[in-house]
Amino acid sequence: MDSLVIQGGFALKGTIRISGAKNAALPLMCASLLSDQPLELSNLPRLADIATLGGVLEHLGVSITVDGAEDGEDPRAVGRTAILQASDVSTATAPYDMVRKMRASILVLGPLVARHGHARVSLPGGCAIGNRPIDLHLKGLADLGAEIELAEGYVEARAPGGRLTGGRVRIPTVSVGATENLMMAAALARGETVIENAAREPEIVDLACCLTSMGATIEGAGTDSLHIQGCESLGAAKHRVIADRIEAGSYAVAAAITGGELTLEDAPAEAMGAVLDALVQAGAEVEAGESGLRISARGVKLAGLDIRTDPYPGFPTDMQAQFMAMLVLAGGASVITETIFENRFMHVPELTRMGADINVTGSSATVRGVDALKGAPVMATDLRASMSLVLAGLAAKGETVINRLYHLDRGYERLEKKLQAVGANIERRPAEGLGKGLGEGPGESEGETQEQA
Ligand code: EPZ
Repeated sequence: MDSLVIQGGFALKGTIRISGAKNAALPLMCASLLSDQPLELSNLPRLADIATLGGVLEHLGVSITVDGAEDGEDPRAVGRTAILQASDVSTATAPYDMVRKMRASILVLGPLVARHGHARVSLPGGCAIGNRPIDLHLKGLADLGAEIELAEGYVEARAPGGRLTGGRVRIPTVSVGATENLMMAAALARGETVIENAAREPEIVDLACCLTSMGATIEGAGTDSLHIQGCESLGAAKHRVIADRIEAGSYAVAAAITGGELTLEDAPAEAMGAVLDALVQAGAEVEAGESGLRISARGVKLAGLDIRTDPYPGFPTDMQAQFMAMLVLAGGASVITETIFENRFMHVPELTRMGADINVTGSSATVRGVDALKGAPVMATDLRASMSLVLAGLAAKGETVINRLYHLDRGYERLEKKLQAVGANIERRPAEGLGKGLGEGPGESEGETQEQA
């Protein structure tokens, strides 16, 4: 496995181009299953998760052609464009060895049942940050008439007569994935569907926008009540993936924690309210302008603040680990409360090894600011925890080596190239000691199941 080597202590300065959003691109790719016409997606980020889902969709019979520069040197090269077409769904089974690599594969369930009348998808299983059940997805599909059966680690769903029936679905706990699966299923169901307590994330709005371009009728996207008129079929569409508010938030924290100044091109400032408010409260300067989102903390001693994660538009759970890294070096104490996932403090032991003072009690972590962190060899455990360690390494004195880099490659496009371009001393060190051709898949050599975001 590759590792990242960071020499900390450099204030970042310059411009970073923000890529397309991973958590928008994944459901958008699954939407291709809803039609036999081509779906063109532009601004797709180069990420391992996108490639993994591409493999699942091709297994199901989706043809995918990609253009756009390959992994070149230029960190400013924008995303790629892919054309996905499910002319015919060749199989309705998404197998375990594919789904376990990336839990968002469960988002093929709704579209497959809606389009094909039948789906058999491996249960995704848990991951590093929690057991990640899919009961809300299944309950919602059953409310739309699907017959659900669980057997041998798979969920089998059938639409009686080959078509789902619209209805009223209330999702008891706000769930991004369940909202997305049900939106896609309802788009081809007979009659109207109302989804209550729907998730309001910008990625939901982006999916609704794409489905509408394909011919769906959806009202209320971005609110907690969605009204969807099902139709017989959906057509071709071209859609640009929205920019990644979590990538942008992560680099905003990089500017703050290093006492630097970054301009984040294409950052979706309008979707980052809670994060930008917290940065300002900590003492950073934030300015949304024509050229992008400018974050500055030059000469600023950041102040501690309390953070509580909530569904959008609250403070995003996907930014919790990154903020913790920043607050470790802030003045005073901060209390971080994680309300979405049950095990999302995996970065704490690693930050502690770098000199952080953090005490976890249940779903809350109390962070007492320290004057400095010391670089150390650390272990990435999940996607956002890994970014938290990169941020700490950028600010720490000395060298930080981050192992199990595949976690980062799932959610951050060209991470080291983007950071090198703004003054970070960071490089990717290829894995050592592997004989030619004896390389292994990410995480498998240590008996590690890959975290599934
Ligand atoms: C999406 O995951 C994101 N992933 C996550 O980002 C993000 O953290 C999460 O939403 C919350 O915003 C993608 O979009 C690919 P949920 P998802 O369903 O849909 C529980 C990252 O780092 N729940 O909103 O799986 C669940 O256990 C990743 O990019 C059930 O109990 O999240 C969690 O506690 C990590 N039953 C809560 O709801 C269900 O059927 C919210 O989960 C579904 C979810």
